[in-house]
Amino acid sequence: MQKAMEKTEAMVKHLEAVNRILEKHGHNHAKLIPILQEVQEEYKYLSKDIISYVATSLNVPPAQVYGVATFYAHFALEPKGKYIFKLCDGTACHVKKSHSILNALYAKLGLSQDKQTTDDMVFTVETVSCLGACGLAPVMLVNDDVYGQVTPEQAVGIIDDILAQEKK
Ligand code: FES
Repeated sequence: MQKAMEKTEAMVKHLEAVNRILEKHGHNHAKLIPILQEVQEEYKYLSKDIISYVATSLNVPPAQVYGVATFYAHFALEPKGKYIFKLCDGTACHVKKSHSILNALYAKLGLSQDKQTTDDMVFTVETVSCLGACGLAPVMLVNDDVYGQVTPEQAVGIIDDILAQEKK
């Protein structure tokens, strides 16, 4: 009984942010995209539970919310790491050998195209299309920080720095 109550309390707490966002948008289903953007900012990704909850709260079919969430590449349906490496694979970056950076990151972290996040949820490595800074190619984002003219060695060095910082 106690455990069930604790679980319910945890769930209510977990949904506090999404409720706040839904309320801010007046539970208006026409605001689905900004709602999902803010929910993702809060929870870092859109879980199945959250998608169902948003759908029920907006009185729309979950398939509709899921459809929007899968249509836009911006939305993540899987949890991501604390540090998200976004390597540009647009034409300019590709020509400047962005794939060698990607391979160095994958090798360092034991990741691949099929497994983009480390088990400890510290790192996610993904590719994105043109980041709009082609003059700096190859370009990489680490969370909100932009790195231009990156080399594989620098990219691996950034991981080492983060690992050292995380150990502190
Ligand atoms: S192609 Fe990479 S920033 Fe444009």
